[in-house]
This record gives sequence, structure tokens and C-alpha cells, in this order.
Amino acid sequence: MLRLSAKHELTVRLRRLRRTSALRGAVRETRLDPRDFIYPIFVRPGRGIREPIESMPGQERLTVDLLPAEGDAVRGRGLGGLLLFGLPEAKDPQGSGAYAEDGIVQRAVRTLRAAHPDLLIMTDVCLCEYTSHGHCGVVRDTGVDNDATLPLLAQTAVSHARSGADVVAPSAMMDGQVGAIRTALDEASCGEVAVMAYSAKYASAFYGPFREAAGSTPQFGDRYSYQMDPGNAREAEREIALDLSEGADLVMVKPALAYLDIVRRVRADVPVPLAAYNVSGEYAMVKAAVRAGWLEEERVVLEILTAIKRAGADLIITYHAKEAAGWLAQS
Ligand code: PBG
Repeated sequence: MLRLSAKHELTVRLRRLRRTSALRGAVRETRLDPRDFIYPIFVRPGRGIREPIESMPGQERLTVDLLPAEGDAVRGRGLGGLLLFGLPEAKDPQGSGAYAEDGIVQRAVRTLRAAHPDLLIMTDVCLCEYTSHGHCGVVRDTGVDNDATLPLLAQTAVSHARSGADVVAPSAMMDGQVGAIRTALDEASCGEVAVMAYSAKYASAFYGPFREAAGSTPQFGDRYSYQMDPGNAREAEREIALDLSEGADLVMVKPALAYLDIVRRVRADVPVPLAAYNVSGEYAMVKAAVRAGWLEEERVVLEILTAIKRAGADLIITYHAKEAAGWLAQS
């Protein structure tokens, strides 16, 4: 322990700047802004349906016709943008609903874009919601076939871009997916569309509620052969470096809370915009504890989001986005 001189003990008082809310506000190092938040939305077939997601209280699967109003809500709260996930009418082994011209996300983007020319629209690019087996790529006897999956992901990204997406976000964790998508976008004259890479995406149990929400649980096996091992940190740096070399515009770490060291590490490593995904299981834990009366929701959520930003994330993809923006507006 450093021994302070008597004089020092009298003059340095860190509590001085904690005395009032105004002082604390003036010296706060990390501030949340609704523009930091990206709101994930699940789109389902049908009309006029808001279907609650049981494992994610407060979240719903929406039909396409309800999206313009949801876009109003996102803009009204001043959020950064939204990220679309689709639940198709039907699934097949090739996940063809992911790249169908009239697929659920393609229709969702066109509808949203027509209503909201300035809204930031991001789309998740993966096959798992669309494949009958629930894996993120094409399945062969030997497992998920990386290279056979790439053209399908590229086709999906191009169809989202042509529908009006600003950013496509590949989450399948296939090697080379960013490069394949970048090349395909450029060849399709979609050179202005950005790629947000789910670069360091871990094989996490925290995706449980999402898989219920999106009906994307693998029907056999698991995702350990393509998503990252939770024990690895250096490997995240390699994933990020590769995605940047393939042309990623933004990179992501996912999940967020159990991986803040990775967020920190990536932030120190690269100057590009960094997103962190505050995933479904993180959201569900908070909601469950709040329901039981064990946690104060507003304080806990704002503390979590502040921590993710403090660790180094520029963007936070979070199901809390609308509520958190509401609290920030009141404070
Ligand atoms: C699709 C995808 C998943 C999530 C985002 N994109 C699920 C998975 O990899 O199983 C999870 C998001 C969340 O849990 O909130 N591959």
C-alpha cells in the first residue's frame, strides 16, 4: 500500500466529486445514448399478429404489416437502428427461405424501407432459422459444409441488400463468409451496403431463449464445430483480423456480458466500430429476476448497458433497447 503523506490525506478526497447528482453527471466517463442501441426484431408470417415470446418477456414476433409502426417506435425512442431476424413459412435442408426473393426478411426490409427511408436497417444473415435441421449451414455426412454454405449466405446478403438493408450481418460462423458476401455485394452493384461481422461469436448457452424465439435449435448435434470455444480469447483476435481482411466494416463480440474481456481486447486491438450483442439469455435472466422481485430492472439494465459500453463497445445490440431509451429520456 502506498503511504500517503499527512498533507495528501487532507487534500485528495475522491468523494468530493460524488457528492451531488450534478457533479457525478459532470465527471461521468461513460454515458449511454439511445443511438448506441440496436433493437433486434423477429418477423413472422401472417397479418396483424403480435406473438409474445415466452422465454423473452416483453419481446414479440411481429408480422410484416406491423413493422412500419415498430419503425416509428424505434425512431421515436431515438435508437440507432434495428436488426431483423426472420421466421419463414417453411423450412428445408438448404434453408431456401433465407435467400428467397419474397422471403420473410426480404419483405420485411422492403416494407420498412418504404415507410422509413432514413431508418438504419440491419439484417442477420444465417441459415439456421430456415433449415429443417437447424444448423447454420448446409449439412453433409461429415457435418456442416463450410464452402457449400458460402454461396447461400452470399445470395441471402445480396437479397437483403437489394430489398433495402443498410448493413448485412453474417452470423453463421463459416470461414470466409465475410469475403464471399463482400464480393457478391460488389458484383451485384450493392457496394454501398456495409457488412457487420459476427466475428467473435461463441458457442454459448446464453442463446437458449433466442432459439425458442426463432425456432432455430439444432435438431441434432451442436454448434461447437463452427462457433468459438468459450475458453478462447486469442482466437477472437484471429477471427477479427480475418474478417477485417475480408472486408468487414464493423465487427462484433457475442455474447456480451460473459465476454467483456473480449470486448476490451478487441477494442484495444482494432480501430473499427465494435458491436457487442447483449443476447437473449442475458435478457431472460434479468427479466426473470425482476419478475421474482429480486432485481430492480431500470438500475440493473442501465448498469449492464453502461458496462458493455465502458468495456469498449460502440454499438450494443439489445432487447432492452426501447425500454432503456425510455428511461434515459426521463433521467
Ligand atoms: C443465428 C443467430 C443466433 C443468435 C443471433 N443470430 C443464434 C445461434 O447462433 O444459435 C443469438 C442471439 C441471441 O441469443 O439473442 N445464427
